[in-house]
Amino acid sequence: MLVLSEKDENVVRESNDLVVELRSISKLYGDTAAVADISLKARRGELLCLLGPSGCGKTTTLRMVAGFVEPSSGSICINNIDMTHQPPYRRDTGMVFQSYALFPHMTVAENIAFGLENLRWPRQKREKRVEEMLKLVELPHLAQRLPSQLSGGQQQRIALARALAIKPAVLLLDEPFSNLDAQLRVRMREELQEVVRSVNVTTLFVTHDQEEALTMSDRIMVMNAGKVEQIGTPGEIYEAPATPFVAKFIGWCSLLKGAVDNTGAFTSTAGLRIKGNWSAGPATVVIRPEQVKLSTDGAAGQSQQARVLHSRYCGGATRVVLDVNGEQLTMQERFSFGRHPKPGDVLGITISTDNLRLIPMQEQHA
Ligand SMILES: Nc1ncnc2c1ncn2[C@@H]1O[C@H](COP(=O)(O)OP(=O)(O)OP(=O)(O)O)[C@@H](O)[C@H]1O
Ligand SMILES: [Mg+2]
Repeated sequence: MLVLSEKDENVVRESNDLVVELRSISKLYGDTAAVADISLKARRGELLCLLGPSGCGKTTTLRMVAGFVEPSSGSICINNIDMTHQPPYRRDTGMVFQSYALFPHMTVAENIAFGLENLRWPRQKREKRVEEMLKLVELPHLAQRLPSQLSGGQQQRIALARALAIKPAVLLLDEPFSNLDAQLRVRMREELQEVVRSVNVTTLFVTHDQEEALTMSDRIMVMNAGKVEQIGTPGEIYEAPATPFVAKFIGWCSLLKGAVDNTGAFTSTAGLRIKGNWSAGPATVVIRPEQVKLSTDGAAGQSQQARVLHSRYCGGATRVVLDVNGEQLTMQERFSFGRHPKPGDVLGITISTDNLRLIPMQEQHA
């Protein structure tokens, strides 16, 4: 696994580290662009997640990399070879589809061997590889079963084994865990990460689950309506969202529109003021629940009055929606037993300006 410092994350240092390169690819269906001008570079062994709402073009992008959909324009390189017009089997990619279809009439072993047969591997070599793959996904005892005789999670692992069998340069996974229950999903995430690391394969992984994206990825590409909103590490995406869309899509937040005045302070349209030293001009401020805190005695000067609109107990913490000077903010706090805030209660809060993200208007694309 390559370890790069935060600063270098978006820079590919050596060209032989570069496994996947998408150059301005677009896909038009009639007049509508399913994918519009996407560029991306992925390094060897990198786990890169494509994240975005339904219909934003994730599957289309992945299928273009695999070769099942031809781009309307742009080009795709894999291992520095232009693959834009090559058929899928020449591309050195393994794919797990959104509905992880195994061939129902083939046994587990036959499913895994499928790609190897296409590549005309001799039988002995094939059998050895199938055995290795079954060991990798820890299901060696299931070789002779049919897919209908497996649990959802087992089918998932076999689909992964099948995609990895040909030792692809690129592994493409389209929402591989969408059919699994919450616990199995978490376990599969960890297993997938381990497998990907152990074979050091570059992986493009589609999800619309933000937690999955944040916990698994080296980098995340956030998409919206066929376009890239931001590419960055999970930390960058969460803490320094490039656009209001990214802020809203990843994690809870309140977005306050307003402007920065000549003193560097931000005032929202409703009148909530946050001291700072930003550059003057219209902007949006992103406030995460963890940045809204109950005032302590020491913070008297900066404390603001907040009226509780409603609150929801979530186990470890309570999520409280507050009205602060006409703006709605969400706070996440742990209250001691029996002291949960009720609608109408008035609390003193402070907004932490540490890492507070302000997005100037000119950086906000439509
Ligand atoms: N073969 C097709 N013909 C016409 N339009 C298509 C075709 N395939 C996809 N689209 C459209 O392209 C857009 C992107 O689809 P895509 O399947 O890439 O979305 P997605 O991000 O994978 O969504 P989901 O999260 O629901 O799987 C959608 O508006 C979809 O309707
Ligand atoms: Mg899809």
